[in-house]
Amino acid sequence: MSSGERRDFVVRRAKGPLVGGVPVPSDKSISHRAILLGALADGASEVSAFSYGGDNVSTLEIFRAMGVHVADDGAGTLRVHGEGLRGLSEPAGPLDCGNSGTTMRVLAGVLGAQPFRSVMVGDASLSRRPMARVAAPLRRRGAVIEGRFHPTKAGEITPPLELGPLPAGQALIESDETLAVASAQVKSALLLSGLYADGNTWVREPVVSRDHTERMLKALGVPLSSVGGAVELDAARFRGKLPAFLLKIPGDLSAAAFLLVAAHLVPESRVSIRGVGLNPTRAGIVDYLRSLSARVTVEEHGDALGEPVGALHVEHAELGGGLLAGELLTRAIDEVPAICALAARSRGRTEIADAAELRVKESDRLAVMASVLRAFGVDCEERPDGMTIEGRPDGLLRAADVESHGDHRIAMSAALLGLVADGETRVRDVACVATSFPRFAGTIRALGGELDVV
Ligand code: S3P
Repeated sequence: MSSGERRDFVVRRAKGPLVGGVPVPSDKSISHRAILLGALADGASEVSAFSYGGDNVSTLEIFRAMGVHVADDGAGTLRVHGEGLRGLSEPAGPLDCGNSGTTMRVLAGVLGAQPFRSVMVGDASLSRRPMARVAAPLRRRGAVIEGRFHPTKAGEITPPLELGPLPAGQALIESDETLAVASAQVKSALLLSGLYADGNTWVREPVVSRDHTERMLKALGVPLSSVGGAVELDAARFRGKLPAFLLKIPGDLSAAAFLLVAAHLVPESRVSIRGVGLNPTRAGIVDYLRSLSARVTVEEHGDALGEPVGALHVEHAELGGGLLAGELLTRAIDEVPAICALAARSRGRTEIADAAELRVKESDRLAVMASVLRAFGVDCEERPDGMTIEGRPDGLLRAADVESHGDHRIAMSAALLGLVADGETRVRDVACVATSFPRFAGTIRALGGELDVV
């Protein structure tokens, strides 16, 4: 993280079950979109239950740098004074996306359509991530976007991204894109750029990626329709404005996933998570656990801007191995590291496939998780698009000393394995956890685990 602080987790074997009801931070994907749509709306939107994860703060600061006034009570309620779709102002300097790929890719759809120039930069990890997937389709509809040529991959670009200006009097044109790999970031960038376009926007995905942008835009009256993996924004029926809104952000199912897994690692655990987002395009981990006959109960209580919200209750059960692939994998794309930790203690073999995308996340999550599993004494075999993990449900794992590689989800997954290891586990360089789950260590402690930050 930019603070440069070096922090480690020290984890000890859980002496008893993890028990209790705990909150999780606000959904990272929805928080990005709430700030962005609030900034582009006409008038003041109120966004509550915001949890200051580093990635979301990057998005917030970027809109502030473009003249959007955001009043923050410091307790999670933001009043975002939207400037309207055409009211952003030219930033004085580079816009820092930090570690957040979602900030950079989704905002590209908006910034590539502005009448001013902007530059988006990121930290060392983000600066290595591929951006052609979003720049190329946006350029095809007339957006102005340049990146740095990738040193080895022809046609690929990496940050910094230079965007705009779109010449005066010029608008984006219609777009019809078929994505080779499902991506909510690319889909969202295209749909948001569609708000600035003269023609329609169609995005077709092989399987449906998370659909928060579609749900929120529809809730705000944008003429958008989806059928299977295809979504269309009808430019002729768009009124050219977004209304201000009130939104209490649901809890993050991807953060809750670590607690669902923790409850399965530590025998006799019983954990409840309330107020969590239950969007089916995100709930792959719940469906995966159910496919293994896990004891997970879902209670749906309501809806926030088209997003289902409710509670999750989980009780420990011994699980067998399973297969995570295809559309289930897409709906659990960010949960693969946690599912690897689960597989380490499952009775049998777990297969993960169709997951090549994980190699270009905050770290190469397949390679890094394979080395973490091996450090804990778990056998696994890595493949280009996945891995096979041989569960070790009996006895304890070998306590390990592992690196997070600056990846929040690796750090938390490794920490969970430390709860069932035979000594003191150290996970190095865990400041990154604050990008998505600032209170992770405190949450594990509140449930009865021994996890310190040193
Ligand atoms: C996200 C989309 C996913 C996911 C990321 C958040 C989003 O990435 O992995 O953590 O909020 O749109 P891709 O769009 O690259 O699949």
